[in-house]
Amino acid sequence: MSIYLDHAATTPLRPEVLSAMLPYLTDHFGNPSSIHGEGRRARQGLDEARETIGGILGAKPREVVFTSGGSESDNLALKGAAWAASARGRHIVTSSIEHKAVMHTCAVLERSGFSVTYLPVDRYGRVDPADVDAAITDHTTVVSIMYASNEVGTLQPIAEIGAICRQRRVVFHTDAVQAGGMLPLDVDALGVDLLSLSAHKVYGPKGVGALFVRQGTSLVPQMQGGAQERQRRAGTENVAGIVGFARALELAQGDRAARNAENARLAGLRDRLAAGITAIDGVELSGHPTERLANSASFLVAAVEGGDLVAGLDLEGVAASTGSACTTGSTEPSHVLLAMGISAERAHGSLRMTAGRDTTVGDADRAVEAVRTVVARLRSGGAAALHPAAAHGAPA
Ligand SMILES: Cc1ncc(COP(=O)(O)O)c(C=O)c1O
Repeated sequence: MSIYLDHAATTPLRPEVLSAMLPYLTDHFGNPSSIHGEGRRARQGLDEARETIGGILGAKPREVVFTSGGSESDNLALKGAAWAASARGRHIVTSSIEHKAVMHTCAVLERSGFSVTYLPVDRYGRVDPADVDAAITDHTTVVSIMYASNEVGTLQPIAEIGAICRQRRVVFHTDAVQAGGMLPLDVDALGVDLLSLSAHKVYGPKGVGALFVRQGTSLVPQMQGGAQERQRRAGTENVAGIVGFARALELAQGDRAARNAENARLAGLRDRLAAGITAIDGVELSGHPTERLANSASFLVAAVEGGDLVAGLDLEGVAASTGSACTTGSTEPSHVLLAMGISAERAHGSLRMTAGRDTTVGDADRAVEAVRTVVARLRSGGAAALHPAAAHGAPA
């Protein structure tokens, strides 16, 4: 079994979540829009899940819209709110470190005649709330700033930005996909109107998520069809997935003391990884030193290519990530690291390790040793050192 340190990419399904889902994949197979008994049974599961998630957010159940995941929630939030307010203004404010689900959605809106301000961040990846205030004009209708970075783990001052947006009367969306399992999600305390979540980042199933839509926030639906989700998202609901999502979020967020204890344990693992890995020559931590996700350790490793490092770690039985999107054949330097003022050359050496529920101290220590070994190997022989046989022309 490899040491899995890529929980920001996805998490394993918790057994309790699978148990909650199974009846909805077997006996309770009805369509929740049907009026017969089978349909009503599925509807009951859907309603209960909506109530559970609404409760965790401090929201009304009707303010929860189920989607196919974080990407769809971000698309619906931005396109939905921007188009709904387009008669009033066509200016959006976001940051330069958002996930591609927000970045690419903004790019599409730009091509449709909206203008977008991409706010800068400091060297730790933090947005300054004063910059948000300064960027809002009479034409601004939506502000979107992520809660926690998927790449470097840095947390944003969401409540402060929320207070500014409320005062300036613009809709505020936050992508809370990475925060979902670990940080408080009370939408009133955060001052958000729209909040995106994804189940597979919180030990739930893939392909299901939610968008919190504050009552009174206008949204143009992005999926046409039936009247599901109060006409905000057409399509027969993924009932089993939604039931699993609610159970996963309940397990992660339901008991605050348990959540705090698990966060403290994860932070211990994160700091152990950070201490061990930054002790290697030419390695530094990226992202904020303290205001960061409890489970996320990210690094810049000099004189190695992040993709080679991740491939080398895989051979050593450690699953990690560069933290940036890789396209086949070439690795673009991460837009997040570039926005943090890191040079393209240094950004190429990015490494992200994200711990999870099953990660132990022994795993962290073995991962540190694996990084030390692979970095030394790469620095002495380049990527070919990972595959000595291939490098000598032998069949791979
Ligand atoms: C911050 C953030 N937003 C959105 C997404 C997209 O979520 P999903 O995979 O559920 O579409 C991710 C997933 O990597 C993410 O980390």
